[in-house]
Amino acid sequence: MKILILGSGGREHALAWAVKQNPKCDTLLCAPGNAGIAKIAKCQALDIENADAVLSFAQENSVDFVIVGPEAPLVSGVADLLRKNGILTFGPDKAAAQLEASKNFTKEICIASGAPTATYGHFTDATTAKAYLKAQGVPIVVKADGLAAGKGVVVAMTMDEAEQAIDTFFASEFGATGAKVVIEEYMEGEEASLFVLCDGETALPVGTAQDHKRAFDGDEGPNTGGMGAYSPAPILDKETLSKAMDEIVYPTLRELVARGITYQGVLYVGLMIKEGQPRLVEYNVRFGDPECQVLMMRLGAQAFDLIEATARGTLTEARVNWAQDHALTIVMAAKGYPGNYIKGSVINGLDQFPDTSKSMCFHAGTTKTPTIITATGGRVLNITARAETLRTARDSAYALAEQIDWPEGFYRTDIGWRAL
Ligand code: AMP
Ligand code: GLY
Repeated sequence: MKILILGSGGREHALAWAVKQNPKCDTLLCAPGNAGIAKIAKCQALDIENADAVLSFAQENSVDFVIVGPEAPLVSGVADLLRKNGILTFGPDKAAAQLEASKNFTKEICIASGAPTATYGHFTDATTAKAYLKAQGVPIVVKADGLAAGKGVVVAMTMDEAEQAIDTFFASEFGATGAKVVIEEYMEGEEASLFVLCDGETALPVGTAQDHKRAFDGDEGPNTGGMGAYSPAPILDKETLSKAMDEIVYPTLRELVARGITYQGVLYVGLMIKEGQPRLVEYNVRFGDPECQVLMMRLGAQAFDLIEATARGTLTEARVNWAQDHALTIVMAAKGYPGNYIKGSVINGLDQFPDTSKSMCFHAGTTKTPTIITATGGRVLNITARAETLRTARDSAYALAEQIDWPEGFYRTDIGWRAL
């Protein structure tokens, strides 16, 4: 098969790495890709949020199958158009992508389906929002309704912080995104994510993970897209996982079907777990980044069979071949991330990095010139290792991270601390 992956992050490199190992993959294309992906796939610059451009590219290159990595193309209807034109595609339609694009939509689905989540209010003006805030008190969580690249959530411990967040979201910072605000109950507990493949009929869990959102050790510093992750998440034991499926995932999928929406792709279920009881924090309509890196490291080549079965609607026949293993990934970011960071610094030591089924350096924001690799993004590399225990996976990932010679980069030294 000729397979096209859309995206340019560590998630897409991990997907490409797994797909490439599957004998069904004859040719692998990626748009736009990065320096790491370019080693295993033909990369092409392309505006992946422009559905017409993606369709033309796929048709011109006789692509058999498109795997959509990030949420933005899904929200803009890329999967809809590809499928309409007969191209097999992994990733939900625009209507289903509302689960990530609109927090209010997700809350409505939860209420209609009885899925446990934080109680909430949805507001279109600051005065009503503040009146609700006053009645609820703190701690409380204020969220911009739409996609805000991870900047649309404020967990407020004081009334001042909460009011300021309301004002900010209603002001221009997030443009249309801030036009609506969701205020919700602060949930206590431990966070973990569950990844479920859905083909419209069948839902199949393909792994659990925990990531580290804060920039610095000890969960300090600003929120980021994720500084590291590990899989499995010990808190999502068998019983809690089956509760999450029965009380949250299946009711959600049934409610979507009742509204005429079919969900096809991976559902990222962000959970807060307290005393064995999971509640929904959020849905995303794609694999997590960096969670995908640890999931792919554990699944290997079978990941493509599962992804293909999802797109073809044959998940009911699919099985995950689990190994008793653990994977951990460390994100190396450019100093200054998630704020302003230097671009164009040189990374050495990548040539010696072992590329095996147990260790991989997945690239995110990298670019290759004829002779060197430079850092062009905030999150730049994902040092990923797999082993029989989490501790060994962690030790191995940190030993490998030390081999990378990149003075302008930094990473957390405590990935996995909670589970260890
Ligand atoms: P979200 O974009 O909805 O995932 O929110 C980002 C992060 O904010 C989550 O991963 C949680 O750490 C935190 N968060 C969001 N909603 C809540 C909530 N209701 N209670 C506690 N923490 C929350
Ligand atoms: N690592 C969090 C996310 O992908 O949304």
